[in-house]
Amino acid sequence: MASASTYKRKTQWKVIREMDEKLDAESTSLSGLLATGNPTSDALATEVESIVDARVSDRGVPNYYENRLLRLVTGLRAGSKVDGIEIDAVQRELDAFLDVSASPRFVDPAERLRRPVDSMWSERVVDERAYRTMQGFREVPSWRGLPLIKTAYDFVIYPMLIDELKPRSIIELGSGSGASALWFADVADAHGMSPRIVSIDIVRPQIDDPRVDFIKADITRIGSALKDSVIKALPKPWLVIDDAHVNVPDVLDFFDDRLGTGDYLVIEDSNSPSNRRNVLDFLARSRNGYLLDRRYVDMFGENSTSALDGVLKRL
Ligand SMILES: C[S@@+](CC[C@H](N)C(=O)[O-])C[C@H]1O[C@@H](n2cnc3c(N)ncnc32)[C@H](O)[C@@H]1O
Repeated sequence: MASASTYKRKTQWKVIREMDEKLDAESTSLSGLLATGNPTSDALATEVESIVDARVSDRGVPNYYENRLLRLVTGLRAGSKVDGIEIDAVQRELDAFLDVSASPRFVDPAERLRRPVDSMWSERVVDERAYRTMQGFREVPSWRGLPLIKTAYDFVIYPMLIDELKPRSIIELGSGSGASALWFADVADAHGMSPRIVSIDIVRPQIDDPRVDFIKADITRIGSALKDSVIKALPKPWLVIDDAHVNVPDVLDFFDDRLGTGDYLVIEDSNSPSNRRNVLDFLARSRNGYLLDRRYVDMFGENSTSALDGVLKRL
């Protein structure tokens, strides 16, 4: 039986939808149009609508994209353009949404990495220019006054990953200003966790924080940069983030030998052909298996993150 709060959320959702439909009716004159009677379109519309309903029913409040999907469904049923979008494009978008909804959270990363870079871009919701500005346009994002070189989407993705994984150790390659390590410490703090955080860079950041071990070392010699005496003392699970992009094959092999089941390896900036090749070659020679976690890389549409096809969970 539905609880009072579920009932309240459902009622809220219904009211919001009615408001939305009213706005749609005013702005696009879609209401009142009759269904086209095309069985394929009707089936697609019904399927998308039921997925959106199921997604929204627990939470009560639809997000922007769910509202857009419902507008597209209305347009598809009416056989008319929606917000200037031709009906063919409406159908393609709804088909693509169904594909994504039906596909699993964890997939083989090699399948995605094998695609040519051009096709990787074309699959994305955000175009290349919008993607580039996600790390700052007017100014660079910052944390506690220090530049933090992540996309706006990563500001959401990492906290959710940290909350879910509950890493007891975070190992970052490439400290930059130190802002990212500081941010990880703050995010973990906010979730009631206090992981060991080790951040390595050839140039040590100008900051100190008792929660972070900033290590000045050269990753081209990863074995000396991260000595076994340091690494063996780091409790699992681990969240490892490569944001230095030097000596990538050795770095990946180094962690492959040390990661445990369920640990995460995040490879940022894997958008260049050479970086993607490095990761593909690594996956082929790894003695362990890895899965790409689409919950994170595709949260905002395919690969809207700095870690394109690069949030890997060790099997
Ligand atoms: C993209 S920045 C890191 C940004 C930071 N993680 C953030 O999110 O703001 C890359 C860092 O890699 C470091 N780096 C480059 N070559 C390195 C090497 N051989 N050993 C260690 N660090 C290196 C650079 O000094 C630079 O700070």
